[in-house]
Amino acid sequence: MYTEPEIIVGLDLGTSKISVVVAERDSRFQDAQIIGVGYAPSLGIRKGLIVNLEQAVQAVRMAVQDAEKMVGFEIDEATVAFSGIDATSVTSRGMVSLGRVPRQVGVQDIERVIEAAQSELAVPSNRVTLHTIPVKYSLDGNSGIDDPLGMTGIRLEIELQSVIVPTSVLQNIINCVESAGITVNGLVIKSLASALGSLTDEETRTGAVSLCIGGGTTGVALFADGRPVRLAVIPIGGDHITNDLAYVLKIPISKAEMIKQQISLLSDENEDAIEVETRGRTKVLNVPDAIDVILCRLEELFTEHVSKSLADQSVHMFPAGIVLSGGVAKTGGIEIFTTEVLNLPVRIAEPLDSFQMPPGRNDCEYTTSSGIIRYIINKERNPYRYIEAPIEVLRSGGVSAYVAAQRGGHQRNTKSANGEGFRHFLEMVKKSMKELF
Ligand SMILES: Nc1ncnc2c1ncn2[C@@H]1O[C@H](COP(=O)(O)OP(=O)(O)OP(=O)(O)O)[C@@H](O)[C@H]1O
Ligand SMILES: [Mg+2]
Repeated sequence: MYTEPEIIVGLDLGTSKISVVVAERDSRFQDAQIIGVGYAPSLGIRKGLIVNLEQAVQAVRMAVQDAEKMVGFEIDEATVAFSGIDATSVTSRGMVSLGRVPRQVGVQDIERVIEAAQSELAVPSNRVTLHTIPVKYSLDGNSGIDDPLGMTGIRLEIELQSVIVPTSVLQNIINCVESAGITVNGLVIKSLASALGSLTDEETRTGAVSLCIGGGTTGVALFADGRPVRLAVIPIGGDHITNDLAYVLKIPISKAEMIKQQISLLSDENEDAIEVETRGRTKVLNVPDAIDVILCRLEELFTEHVSKSLADQSVHMFPAGIVLSGGVAKTGGIEIFTTEVLNLPVRIAEPLDSFQMPPGRNDCEYTTSSGIIRYIINKERNPYRYIEAPIEVLRSGGVSAYVAAQRGGHQRNTKSANGEGFRHFLEMVKKSMKELF
């Protein structure tokens, strides 16, 4: 029997560009096939945050229209990736007893242990837990259990990674995308989406670091044993390099951007000098000076910020090394410099699904948008791997606000209110999963 293919859409709300990836799948082929990629330059977004709503809405409309032209039908909903510089990634632990005699772990036990770890977190009332990610389970003290369902024991423990984001940031994003006529059906932080779009299964299992260096932000995702052990977003990206070049070399931003994209960090790949036309005059720039400016900013990013994210993890946890993506990964020679500074092997990633994407829209700048499709599919296949707050919770301003609104009561901000809220949260996650299958 023929069934209409299902359409899945990912929208990446970047600082430099907005991209929209459209995929389809039918009931027989559970894997999605990308059928179009829309693009528009970003407006009204700085360091991943919306600073001018009207302009941002306009840019989203243009990117969506571009994708619609490519696929030939209207797009009405999407899962949105955002940069989230104020997001924090917090680890918590939980433990539940399965009884005095050993028995098999059931779905309810997994929910109970997630809930126990989640209730350890005190989430401020102006923030919400967007992602809840089980990192490690252990059963009767045996760690490294990938999936405890059906296994036998008496004590189940979990280590949980929670990504907590200011509610207002998410509400502004939802408001922006929905004002452009697209219903938001999910949200994902860019560091997770770009990692899923660029890391191979082998790299995630062996241990790897995904670094997505975009225009205004750098997404960091540390993966070990197939799971993200830490997600972070650093408020530094390629635009900072352009601004530094413009300031130091005393040239306009547009010229600085052009030069940045032209030169390689490997001095033997460049001429010694470049001529630039500014204000009707020809200026000769010394290329090694420009390289120094770029290296200085990249060094700051790697040594002060990325190293900090790695600090409490041993580099030996990531033998597969660093996987670079985002527009800045196109900088000539960046992999050699990154290897020198961070002392790990480095590769430049194109999206894992690049062969399904149109030429010119399938390079390292598109790992986040294509990664959203992989995130959606991963979430459906493994409901307890990436637990995302239901969109109605995010729209209403967080779990406690949602629970209070449901009861017509007042919002409370205590640990127990969070625990109580989380039970409702799980109920809603389960309900939305039942609707999915
Ligand atoms: N060839 C190149 N060499 C160096 N930098 C480049 C090159 N091409 C693009 N960039 C830089 O990449 C950045 C844009 O990357 P990308 O499209 O990944 O950002 P974004 O996703 O819009 O932003 P963010 O993820 O930070 O919100 C810009 O700063 C741009 O100057
Ligand atoms: Mg980006």
